[in-house]
Amino acid sequence: MRTAIAIDGPAGAGKSTVAKLVARRLGYLYLDTGAMYRAAGLKALRLGVPPGDASRVTGLIASTDVSIAFVDGTQHVLLDGEDVTALIRTPPVSVAASDISAIPAVRLRMVELQRKISSERDVVMDGRDIGTFVLPDASCKIYLSATIEERTRRRCRELEERGAEVVDADAVRRDIEYRDHNDSHRALAPLAKAADATLVDTTGLSVEDVVETILRRVRHCAS
Ligand code: DC
Repeated sequence: MRTAIAIDGPAGAGKSTVAKLVARRLGYLYLDTGAMYRAAGLKALRLGVPPGDASRVTGLIASTDVSIAFVDGTQHVLLDGEDVTALIRTPPVSVAASDISAIPAVRLRMVELQRKISSERDVVMDGRDIGTFVLPDASCKIYLSATIEERTRRRCRELEERGAEVVDADAVRRDIEYRDHNDSHRALAPLAKAADATLVDTTGLSVEDVVETILRRVRHCAS
């Protein structure tokens, strides 16, 4: 029986940063599920298909291959065989990922891949619906949150670190609010805290504090 730690929460709550460190400390694989929706969103943008158009996207996804490869423990996402890892962190792709992720055919494809990976390896998986839908039997579930101001600051810092020349904080905040609403109001597997997840508000906490809080919780879940 494989062990899975589910970490869910809205954009900018700090999921990927802490999930990566938790996975390293536990010797587990880290799986960033958002990257899969981002790859699907990128494909729609490239082909000029509106990512919210259910019938066109359902056709598109049937002929799209999204897969994950791990190189020295680091996740790479492949879109029809092309490594698009470096192309999926832009604001337009974030919004397209949120729009396309509401379409059931897309979710079901990605969830199948996520469950397959977790059946083969011990994982720390982050996303929106891991504890509620993808892995309802995960051994430990965490829901990370933070205020909108803090999440906006973190996303701006991340974009700057990735080399963005101008970062418009108001636009970043609007994108996050749009995605929060979109991700938590879709019909299938919306962003939600699982009833048995532990809520961790990361506002004002250091990364190391959050990692330690989660590791304590993981030890408690295992005992
Ligand atoms: O975690 P992220 O910001 O990379 O995710 C991008 C979008 O993908 C997010 O706005 C909603 C969608 N997503 C999802 O619907 N379910 C997941 N498990 C992960 C991401």
